[in-house]
Amino acid sequence: MSKKILILPGDGIGPEIMAEAVKVLKVASEKFDLGVELEFDDLGGAAYDRYGVPLADETLARAREADAILLGAVGGPKWDTIDPALRPERGLLKIRSELGLFGNLRPAILYPQLAEASTLKPEVVSGLDILIVRELTGGIYFGKPRERRVLENGERQAYDTLPYSESEIRRIAKVGFDMAMVRGRKLCSVDKANVLASSQLWREVVEEVARDYPEVELSHMYVDNAAMQLVRAPKQFDVMVTDNMFGDILSDQASMLTGSIGMLPSASLDIDGKGMYEPCHGSAPDIAGQGIANPLATILSVSMMLRYSFASGQAADAIEKAVSQVLDQGLRTGDILSDGCTRVGTAEMGNAVAQALKNL
Ligand code: IPM
Ligand code: MG
Repeated sequence: MSKKILILPGDGIGPEIMAEAVKVLKVASEKFDLGVELEFDDLGGAAYDRYGVPLADETLARAREADAILLGAVGGPKWDTIDPALRPERGLLKIRSELGLFGNLRPAILYPQLAEASTLKPEVVSGLDILIVRELTGGIYFGKPRERRVLENGERQAYDTLPYSESEIRRIAKVGFDMAMVRGRKLCSVDKANVLASSQLWREVVEEVARDYPEVELSHMYVDNAAMQLVRAPKQFDVMVTDNMFGDILSDQASMLTGSIGMLPSASLDIDGKGMYEPCHGSAPDIAGQGIANPLATILSVSMMLRYSFASGQAADAIEKAVSQVLDQGLRTGDILSDGCTRVGTAEMGNAVAQALKNL
């Protein structure tokens, strides 16, 4: 049975890293007889330039029909001054929300070969393997009202709203507990319950869900403390579950434990497990077009796609092994470079992983 994958390269370094991920995906498809069928479209600034909107209706329809979606990155200075409602990021938020992709899995795993590339001491990060489960379709990113207005005294004012309903909290908490069950059985729920009403409800509902998971050791942590603990002693964590904005911030922070944000893949899943897969990093306009971006986060996102959407654990393991072999060979893009390694560009890195996968 063929599997339809919608590829959305996006903006900035998106097309460059996606080209490498597609190479690796094609090798995997052949080797493991996955029968993938690729379709391409635009999202973000590229879509704005082509369709006049950051997510066209026809693209959304294609996304709904696809079995999985692979996304590069969106945004860039070229679109910083357009109508805020049409910004590239709006396209990304809309596709997440329209497809109901509430469960965002962001694993931060340190490849032992990269212990030197982390800005933290090797002993603090070696063996690191944590999973951040981020709520992706609610909270302050989508809360209404959000408004900018002029007050009576002539001052400009703007505000956002941070709502969470009990059902939204319950379903993401379940993802957190389910993930903890197949990992180290430890879940840390991150909130700001000492200040925010939404966090107080979050904590209450997480406690309720915990009753169905007696084997999981649950803890709660305020987000400011969690940010500190992540750099102080990150290996204390197994799975962390948190809201949309806290998850956005903490996952960027966790990425540096692994050497570079260029290493972090992600999966965004709906209630039935249908998913969109993307690197956690952005479109890096400062290095776009130079062929130096690290394609590994996108390649590892392909691996997550094969694992979660197509139940091809074997193919996913093989891609991860190929990445590890390439790192063993000492090949590094600039962001993960350390002494004694060979600096390569985006395409060389992609070719090396594709070749290693073929040879496995
Ligand atoms: C991410 C990104 C996005 C987010 C931006 C591009 C809207 O930072 O996926 O983490 O904030 O969710
Ligand atoms: Mg982010």
